[in-house]
Amino acid sequence: MRDCRCDVIYNNPQGMYKKSALEFTRTVAMAPYIGSFLFALLSIHLCNSLSYYDYFVPDGVVNTGLVAEGDDFTLNDKEILILSGALHYFRVHPSHWRDTLKKIRAAGMNAVETYVPWNLHEPRQNVYDFGDLGEDMSAFLDVRSFIQMAQEEDLFVILRPGPYICAEWEFGGMPSWLLRDPNMEVRTSYEGFKTPLEVYFNNLLPRLVDLQFTRGGPIIAVQIENEYGNFGYPDVPHDKEYLEAIKDILTANGFSESLYFTSDTPLLAGDSGALPGVLMTANFNTYGEENLSLLKEMQPDRPLMVMEFWTGWFDHWLAPFHVRTPVKGFGEMLELILSHNSSVNMYMFIGGTSFGFMAGANTLDIWPHYTPQTSTYDYDAPLSEAGDYTEKYILAKDIMARYNPLEGVVDHPEQPPQRVKASYPEVAISESLDFATLLSQQNSVETDEGTLSMELLPFNEGNGQSYGYVVYTAHATLTPNSSLQIINHVRDMAQVLVDGVVMTKPYGGLLDVSSFGFWNGQNKSLAIPGQDEVAEVMIMVENLGRVNFGRPHKYHQQKGLWEGPVLIDGIQVDQWIIHSMELKGSQVTNLTGWIPFAGPLETPAMYRGVLHLDGPPQDTFLDMSGWNKGVVFVNGFNLGRYWVVGPPKTLYLPAPFLREGNNQIIAFEQYAPGPAFVFRDTPILG
Ligand SMILES: *[C@@H]1O[C@H](CO)[C@@H](O)[C@H](O)[C@H]1NC(C)=O
Ligand SMILES: *[C@@H]1O[C@H](CO)[C@@H](O)[C@H](O)[C@H]1NC(C)=O
Ligand SMILES: *[C@@H]1O[C@H](CO)[C@@H](O)[C@H](O)[C@H]1NC(C)=O
Ligand SMILES: *[C@@H]1O[C@H](CO)[C@@H](O)[C@H](O)[C@H]1NC(C)=O
Ligand SMILES: *[C@@H]1O[C@H](CO)[C@@H](O)[C@H](O)[C@H]1NC(C)=O
Repeated sequence: MRDCRCDVIYNNPQGMYKKSALEFTRTVAMAPYIGSFLFALLSIHLCNSLSYYDYFVPDGVVNTGLVAEGDDFTLNDKEILILSGALHYFRVHPSHWRDTLKKIRAAGMNAVETYVPWNLHEPRQNVYDFGDLGEDMSAFLDVRSFIQMAQEEDLFVILRPGPYICAEWEFGGMPSWLLRDPNMEVRTSYEGFKTPLEVYFNNLLPRLVDLQFTRGGPIIAVQIENEYGNFGYPDVPHDKEYLEAIKDILTANGFSESLYFTSDTPLLAGDSGALPGVLMTANFNTYGEENLSLLKEMQPDRPLMVMEFWTGWFDHWLAPFHVRTPVKGFGEMLELILSHNSSVNMYMFIGGTSFGFMAGANTLDIWPHYTPQTSTYDYDAPLSEAGDYTEKYILAKDIMARYNPLEGVVDHPEQPPQRVKASYPEVAISESLDFATLLSQQNSVETDEGTLSMELLPFNEGNGQSYGYVVYTAHATLTPNSSLQIINHVRDMAQVLVDGVVMTKPYGGLLDVSSFGFWNGQNKSLAIPGQDEVAEVMIMVENLGRVNFGRPHKYHQQKGLWEGPVLIDGIQVDQWIIHSMELKGSQVTNLTGWIPFAGPLETPAMYRGVLHLDGPPQDTFLDMSGWNKGVVFVNGFNLGRYWVVGPPKTLYLPAPFLREGNNQIIAFEQYAPGPAFVFRDTPILG
């Protein structure tokens, strides 16, 4: 029997556990007297179902935070098996945070884990964004609200603030302005890295410090760096002083009340990313037995935790198909982990989306060396990119119910219903805006010292350009025999126009990545025939995503043309006009010069259409399979990249980006537009 008072509290539409979690916050602050009374009301004596907060803080008093000694974790002196799921607040629309947190809690989990992306929170040096900077991603950046909401939904929080987060995220979450320093050594004690990092942490951490469990909030554990054991090895020694420095910054900001940990794949990195006394956790999805026993061997007196149990995997452009990992293997590995009494964080529980230009890239020692990631971050996880339940969700819920020591003690909220997906009627292209008109509205600079990297362009108050495209323009007399040569590489893809005519072809097959205009091509030439007259030569270079894993300090992370000079007919060209085409949402919304659509243009161009909705918007997917390559903006928000090479052919369009009435859809298409904007109610992930 449920006590009626509990029903009133628990059926709060704002959040199943909102009241009790808030009471918890308040009572911890107000000390035991009132606290014990309030919690008595909410406690097991009156209710036969408890929240996790009720269970771990039965009288409103916190004595200790999360402790990792012996075989089991304890929280406030009670044993806890941490059942956590990764949800990146910067990859799920904030209007969907609560629904997603409820889905995580309804699976039986007791914690949510997130990274914190430095590049979004400090887009320009000493300019911070925690939700109100008015930038494209600002709406996603109220990390404090996200953490508080997790508590309202009866979840503890594991915080992984970086500064490096990997995460298949642009530059592993580091801001591109770091790359203006030619001597930059990221993730080391190099002052040029450590000092900005400290300034950033001193800004971020005070905003969250009172959200620790010990102070009435949900944060129970904080990670130091991220997979540091995998970094630089073997050509760069592990910089333990740097790891210690991060720990010291966390401690100076009051975070030693939470449990510190590092995470690595034990059998690949051993303890090379660890610090004495700091809990090591493991990341893997194969050889669980071996990895867990090595972790136990390295750390016999401490409980086991798999910080990243990879529930699926992510996609690279040009791959033959969307990565799916078998449901059965997922279940077996989860069961193996739990049967070792190990706590777990499912990475990811929901992948979400790397909106805009936020997808990162990997490097390979072998061809094709650089492999950029797709905008969809559907991880083949328990929840799909759009938050739908998958077979893995059902299986995980079932397995966790068998291993959760608090099953039957703690309440099981109901699973929220699926969000309806719409397949809206297709939208015709109504207007276009040509390349010259587009360029005329971009920031530009003239130089006579050759091409400059994106990062060194004199824009954004001395921070350079971070993302998007750069267009380099020169004037030269071209003969019927003229050629253009780019010494070394383009970072990452280039299209050439001569007097407004495109001279390069779209990607046509894997071997192309080693030819002119692609990242693997080195010292490649392109014929640019002219008529013995001065011509305008333009090279549009796209940043396809900075590398997020491996050796980001060794890879060529600056974007644009900077590795070597550009030659026309063998002569180095030093005079350039450089346009910075950042394609920020507000810039795209502000564009003027649209004309009625009269057929596809043969150059990069903008295309616009209007989606009219009569009722409340629903989630949908934009099917760009009829187009070639570019990015799509919906009501001024950059949804991400599409590219006919796949594997994905759709872009997830969350309902909160749409509104009743007219919605503006704009595509920047680099080669050839499709016949219309097409919407589907299911994704094509490839
Ligand atoms: C441990 O896990 C990693 C990642 O899944 C895997 O690459 C490695 O091979 C595993 N260890 C062993 C001994 O296989
Ligand atoms: C897991 O914990 C239970 C209960 O404490 C214990 O009986 C069992 O031996 C443990 N299993 C392992 C693999 O450590
Ligand atoms: C064009 O260049 C080729 C070799 O690079 C040369 O053989 C040919 O004579 C040139 N033609 C003209 C018209 O300059
Ligand atoms: C590319 O050209 C540069 C400058 O001439 C040269 O140093 C380099 O070795 C060349 N690389 C290749 C692969 O030809
Ligand atoms: C776009 O236009 C608005 C209103 O005219 C202006 O405030 C804003 O600065 C413009 N943004 C950009 C990036 O040009």
